[in-house]
Amino acid sequence: MRIATESPTPFTLNTQPVTVSAFPDEPLLHVLRDRLDKAGTRFGCGLNQCGACRVLIDGRPVAACDTPMWSVAGRSVVTVEGLANWPLAKRLRSAFEDLQAGQCGACLSGILITLMHAIEQRTVCDEASVRSVLDNHLCRCGSHPRIVAAALSVIQASPAGESAGVPL
Ligand code: FES
Ligand code: FES
Repeated sequence: MRIATESPTPFTLNTQPVTVSAFPDEPLLHVLRDRLDKAGTRFGCGLNQCGACRVLIDGRPVAACDTPMWSVAGRSVVTVEGLANWPLAKRLRSAFEDLQAGQCGACLSGILITLMHAIEQRTVCDEASVRSVLDNHLCRCGSHPRIVAAALSVIQASPAGESAGVPL
């Protein structure tokens, strides 16, 4: 039984200010998908175990299913829709398509969020490092090898020192 009531929660979504009425303990994932029309952020496990619901909060990848709305107030949230026009995100998506790296695609928006952050932070450069940052992303279709290959094809073709330019 909920004892709290909904209250206005202001934050920045994909660089635009928004205010949404939400319960303090309500998961950000539900608010994004059900009230803010950001269905690119996927529900997988709901338990912070699969990586499907990753978004950037203040520039860091987090599980939206495990992020209560009270903690989002005043912060910057970026979903996969917010990355749509960024050149690196376009190249990653093209590589996924070229290498048939997704089957159902349910895992891919979370993986894109994590890869954009990792490339921005320069924590990926080879197969081992890509596998490491994607270690807690589950792909139920078994596409991991092609996902890693697609990510590597982009990372290794990117100009040295290029910024992913992830919006905050
Ligand atoms: S749905 Fe959030 S980690 Fe699985
Ligand atoms: S492509 Fe289906 S879960 Fe990864």
